Amino acid sequence: MKIGILTGGGDCAGLNAVIRAVVKRSEEYGWEVLGIRYGWRGLMDSDVVKLSFKDVANIHRIGGTILKTSRTNPFKHAGAPEKILENVKRLGLDAIIAVGGDDTLGVAAKLFKMGLNVVGVPKTMDNDISATDYTFGFDSAVNEAMHALDNLMTTGESHDRVMVAEVMGRHAGWVAAYAGIASGAHLTLVPEEPFDLDEVISFIKKRYERGERSTLIVVAEGAVMKNVSSTFVKEGKVDEFGHIKLGGIGQFLAEEIERRTGYEVRSVVLGHTIRGGSPTAFDRVLSSRFGLAAVELVKERKFGFMVALKGTSITYVSLDDAVSKMKSLDQETYNALKALSY
Ligand code: F6P
Repeated sequence: MKIGILTGGGDCAGLNAVIRAVVKRSEEYGWEVLGIRYGWRGLMDSDVVKLSFKDVANIHRIGGTILKTSRTNPFKHAGAPEKILENVKRLGLDAIIAVGGDDTLGVAAKLFKMGLNVVGVPKTMDNDISATDYTFGFDSAVNEAMHALDNLMTTGESHDRVMVAEVMGRHAGWVAAYAGIASGAHLTLVPEEPFDLDEVISFIKKRYERGERSTLIVVAEGAVMKNVSSTFVKEGKVDEFGHIKLGGIGQFLAEEIERRTGYEVRSVVLGHTIRGGSPTAFDRVLSSRFGLAAVELVKERKFGFMVALKGTSITYVSLDDAVSKMKSLDQETYNALKALSY
């Protein structure tokens, strides 16, 4: 057997641990592994590299992906899906393991229907894939955000300032919510609950009047204001999966708060800082378990499926189910977030 592995979409911590586990178990089965570079584009260009365990034995500690990634959507390039199937055959690949979020796995689901032997591994720092309880990359991002927010808390308190931190999380507020709870942020704004700017201002003023001169606010990049339909867009252009580049809500909030209260305000975009870096233990373990399980799916020829975490067990679900629905912040977590605002 010869299998290929690719990593697509936004990078995150834990990807290299998946690659390492896939190579480890594949070699135990006597299989050859080809690393496919730059996500689906690597199969369009036959851009591959042979992987052996000695090459990847210690990469699980390193953030990002040694295979590089891209947001290439083959279905936006005439003839590319068919070319992928041809290249897979020409490279002698018996199966593909696709590691990615809803975009990458959506392509995998379509190519499976065209005859590609593919299994999926869910990945995203956003933790917004409904078919798995957690995705790797999320815990690492939350930890990086928490440390940054802890730092913002102390500097804000030292200067009696309002600190506004914008975090990634395109349409789901998981990163903002968990980082807000973990850091003890006074207020966290998430895409799931449009916010009223007047209420935010009043919240900060009430804190100030009772002597709490510094307020830490976490806001997800995809958060929206009530009665305003659009999110804050950094650039109008969209990627090949139709995603616009979000950003700017933190700066907007900071300017509005300073203008309407007269308090000193500073804003920070945590952005890609929290997506890079070394994976936490949780993510290293989950990624490794996902990688091992993905090889088992290939061995059992369960193509068209994705590994998933249910509770503490690794299971598998169909790729179609995996990408059908985004996982928004659940009510219990949202209630906890509100209960801990102060
Ligand atoms: O999809 C994960 C993600 O990190 C989002 O949270 C974020 O909005 C987006 O990727 C940023 O994409 P890029 O790295 O391509 O700018």
